[in-house]
Amino acid sequence: QPAKAWSGRFSEPVSDLVKRYTASVFFDQRMAEQDIRGSLAHARMLARQGIIGTQDLADIERGMAQIRDEIARGEFTWSLDDEDVHLNIEKRLTALVGDAGKRLHTGRSRNDQVATDIRLWLRDAIDQILVLIGDFQRNVLELAEAHADTPLPGFTHLQVAQPVTFGHHLMAYCEMTRRDAERFADCRRRVNRLPLGSAALAGTSYPIDRESVARELGFDEVCYNSLDAVSDRDFAIEFCAASALLMTHLSRLSEELILWMSPRVGFIDLADRFCTGSSIMPQKKNPDVPELVRGKTGRVNGSLIALLTLMKGQPLAYNKDNQEDKEPLFDTADTVIDTLRIYADMMGSRIDEKTGERVFNVRVKAAAMLGALSQGYATATDLADYLVKKGLPFRDAHEAVALAVRAAEARACDLPDFTLDELRAAMAEVNGAAERVGEDVFAVLTVAGSLASRNHVGGTAPQQVRAAIARMRSSLG
Ligand code: ARG
Repeated sequence: QPAKAWSGRFSEPVSDLVKRYTASVFFDQRMAEQDIRGSLAHARMLARQGIIGTQDLADIERGMAQIRDEIARGEFTWSLDDEDVHLNIEKRLTALVGDAGKRLHTGRSRNDQVATDIRLWLRDAIDQILVLIGDFQRNVLELAEAHADTPLPGFTHLQVAQPVTFGHHLMAYCEMTRRDAERFADCRRRVNRLPLGSAALAGTSYPIDRESVARELGFDEVCYNSLDAVSDRDFAIEFCAASALLMTHLSRLSEELILWMSPRVGFIDLADRFCTGSSIMPQKKNPDVPELVRGKTGRVNGSLIALLTLMKGQPLAYNKDNQEDKEPLFDTADTVIDTLRIYADMMGSRIDEKTGERVFNVRVKAAAMLGALSQGYATATDLADYLVKKGLPFRDAHEAVALAVRAAEARACDLPDFTLDELRAAMAEVNGAAERVGEDVFAVLTVAGSLASRNHVGGTAPQQVRAAIARMRSSLG
């Protein structure tokens, strides 16, 4: 028996360095369960087709059960000499059950085997991610509901733009992550196709039945070209792209949490357990979790580029380059899963035992949000719209309000602080503006009036925010 499964045609062993360089067992052993599932489905098909005997199948099933057990108990010895997860398991199987173990690889190659394992593994990861996105969204919905009426300055260019509600702002992230979930679900459809049966690249001469293997393993269909099936990793790239977008959304939210928590802004506080202190500055409470989410987004983006680059120069069919797909893929799934777990928790709440009240981990400082709103002429657009509704062309209204803002700036006050006469005087230069302003203008200059007026699907009016929350909640089930 040669030392390695493939070393029969070699006249010298590989050096230790080459052995270590070419091995993947230390990172692909986490696909052991998928490898065993795939092997069992393959063996059962071989037996059904009369390619191996029923006793062989029974031996393989017994051996695999023991191997599963050994792995679960941490007693399985992974060996560098056996290169990867596939050969390690096959070698142990043969040690346990003899010839039946040697028959398992009939009509199969590690090339279709590994492609199958990755897809099984990734399918599980996607299912976990979909559940976690739902957890995140449910918690964000609850926070948004608590703040459906809470005014916040909406920004463009980080300058105060128009009033929005904090609930509306949070719901933007529910929409983003809903698209993320759609992308993962869509990617899953293409992940869920079976490469097994493609063998090394050209298919196999045995009378195999690929559809039955696909059914047993829960694949929607088989891959229809053997060369493509063993060599493309586009499904992994898609997964990384969906992950990069999800992380980008969470990174934007993180950036906002960090900004809002800065004492210079002071819109929120974050529960202590998501922050850490400084070893030198005793007063510090730093938003480490959001900062790390922002940082880890770079790493996920890097993995996407790594996989795209890995793929772009490969001629058909399988090349060993593809062994390099696993670490970026695993790292991406691990990062996304951990990030979603921690984020769902961070956006969550608990009931305070003493007061019986719900306490959110994101503590909103509504007074500071409202205070910021009165410093940026946030209702200037409302004033322009008011003039338009009274018959002034929009461009003239825009100019009249700009003059009023300049006057307010000179007096260091906000628009609603003017008396009616002062407001009229400020706009006097624009024909037809001053006489159109009446006492009723003060209703639109208030934040509450501005919010309530944006009352259409997708608008920030509290009524619409509540409708958006209800819609999202029912789609989450
Ligand atoms: N460890 C390999 C991988 O991850 C398995 C397939 C190797 N096939 C081969 N002929 N070298 O891609």
